[in-house]
Amino acid sequence: MLVAPSILSADFGYLARDVEAICEGGCDLVHVDVMDGHFVPNLTIGPVVVEAVAQAATKPLDIHLMVENNSFFVDLFAPLKPGFISFHIEEEKHPHRLIQKIRALGIKPAIVLNPHTSPEAIEFLLEDLDMVLLMSVNPGFGGQKFIPSVIEKAKRLKKLINERNPKCLIEVDGGVNDENLKLLEEAGVDVVVAGSFVYKHPKGVKEAIASLK
Ligand code: DX5
Ligand code: ZN
Repeated sequence: MLVAPSILSADFGYLARDVEAICEGGCDLVHVDVMDGHFVPNLTIGPVVVEAVAQAATKPLDIHLMVENNSFFVDLFAPLKPGFISFHIEEEKHPHRLIQKIRALGIKPAIVLNPHTSPEAIEFLLEDLDMVLLMSVNPGFGGQKFIPSVIEKAKRLKKLINERNPKCLIEVDGGVNDENLKLLEEAGVDVVVAGSFVYKHPKGVKEAIASLK
């Protein structure tokens, strides 16, 4: 299992230290939640802060956009050379065009599905994607409860992926811990995002990442 800790649960007063800790602790990606206060009822960080994250990180950034006007935000973050940029299908009129734009910038494109969105909604985009991110909470906040229907959704998505683009990864984000991880793995999930589980683990981030892996 690949592990992408979400820095949303880091101590922002010591952000560089907390980014270094997950990278040294063996994470695979650094998950960065960008919220604009419009698409979701929360506001997080922009390119100035994400640049500091990129400087501290020794693993690729996994930028999760929760914004209106995706294309504008892709332009803002592209100079930081993230590994992935993911955007919500619910907020994009021209997802195919945006995927091509992200790829042309040398970044791996990913699409995010909210809890209510069926995997069939992106069936004809799968061959152009490197990853699909399934939300297992409503986007906007860390520390929420895992929504179990994502397991069935991941299984359905895995079938579509096997038919259309077996290299495409499945990532799950929200409420992930060492208890629901097994079910996610069995459903075909490749990458888990974990915020509070990693940063609030009593034995520290390294131990938390190891237990997910
Ligand atoms: C929620 C974010 C998540 C969040 C996960 O909108 O997309 O990445 O930080 O946090 P936990 O793991 O605490 O649910
Ligand atoms: Zn996220």
